[in-house]
Amino acid sequence: MALDYVTNEEVVQAARKKLFQGAYDYLVGGAETETTFRRNRLAFDTVAFRPRVLVDVSDVDPATTLLGHKLRIPVLLAPIGSLQTFDPEGGLGSTKAAHQFGIVHVVSSATEPGLEEIAAASPSPKIYQLYIRGDEAWVEDRLKRAVDAGYKALCITVDTAVDSIRERPLLTRWAQPTRRRDPREREYSKKVTWDTVQGYKQRTGLPLLIKGIATAEDAAIAVQRGVDVVWVSNHGGRQLDHGLGSMDTLPEIVQAVGGKAEIVLDGGVYRGSDVLKAIALGANAVAIGRLQGYGLAAAGAEGVVRVLEILEGEIRSAMGLMGITRVSQLNPSYVTKAPMVTMPHEHSAWVNLPGGRIQ
Ligand code: FNR
Repeated sequence: MALDYVTNEEVVQAARKKLFQGAYDYLVGGAETETTFRRNRLAFDTVAFRPRVLVDVSDVDPATTLLGHKLRIPVLLAPIGSLQTFDPEGGLGSTKAAHQFGIVHVVSSATEPGLEEIAAASPSPKIYQLYIRGDEAWVEDRLKRAVDAGYKALCITVDTAVDSIRERPLLTRWAQPTRRRDPREREYSKKVTWDTVQGYKQRTGLPLLIKGIATAEDAAIAVQRGVDVVWVSNHGGRQLDHGLGSMDTLPEIVQAVGGKAEIVLDGGVYRGSDVLKAIALGANAVAIGRLQGYGLAAAGAEGVVRVLEILEGEIRSAMGLMGITRVSQLNPSYVTKAPMVTMPHEHSAWVNLPGGRIQ
């Protein structure tokens, strides 16, 4: 029973037991040496809190908003493709969990079932994440369908112009469904530019999120181009290897954005303390990728809800111990740089789990 999980470590273990090796490797793995992937954790681990005391913390509330939509905690469900690999309900499970818990699901265009079915599964606001896998007419059709289905915003992921090399699933000789399609579909994303994505905002009238910003330079262009949400991400270390951890890129991006857009960060968010560190350094919210996948694989929608409840418990505890009652009170004075104490790996956020390719 999903509600028995007391830490997210138990959810990870349950997910590992349920998934066959290929699906597990697809969920967990990063690109090539997994340096970017590990640096995502390292970047969180090298931030320490500067707590304040003797503050009345009898009324802690971690809620916030993004694009005007209420979030019970400052966390989004990141877009994940092929969710049907982890649970038979696929994307429906994540959407139901987001609705039940009270946050926003960013729905991947690369997951089953289709965008209309997922939209109809709950009345909660949702964001549609589009990969460009066709010509102008194909994109037009997708955009129109997303608007008609009631999605509240459009997210374009921009760190996937070409396929990366993910060695864990390669070694298993198992390819996720989206990599089994006609390779000609992949040609379209290579030609996407700032003009292309700006046009999508004009055509749909929807707020635009650009996911995969890793530098101040691109954040500044995003703001000039009228992007509503700058999404700081390296795709969970699954695309370009040997990049910085996404938390290490946050300060320069926050400065470049200068308050002219909202900011989401993902990559290595596995704990409530991670959420608070990102907010203290200027993010409005974070997103969870693998953690969501673990929850879904462990126990479907209920598993994702349990993951979020555990995360919320950690956020509330850390807020009280830091002397804040609202996440809006956080600012850079609540954190400082500190040496790491744990070698980062995919499970280093939990004390009892080993890293490496668990068989
Ligand atoms: C992803 N990610 C992703 N991103 C996206 O924009 N569209 C997608 O379809 C997918 N698919 C996908 C599948 C799987 C299995 C994973 C783990 C990730 C990236 C995702 O949205 C997010 O950026 C990262 O997962 C964040 O890092 P963490 O939370 O996994 O460490």
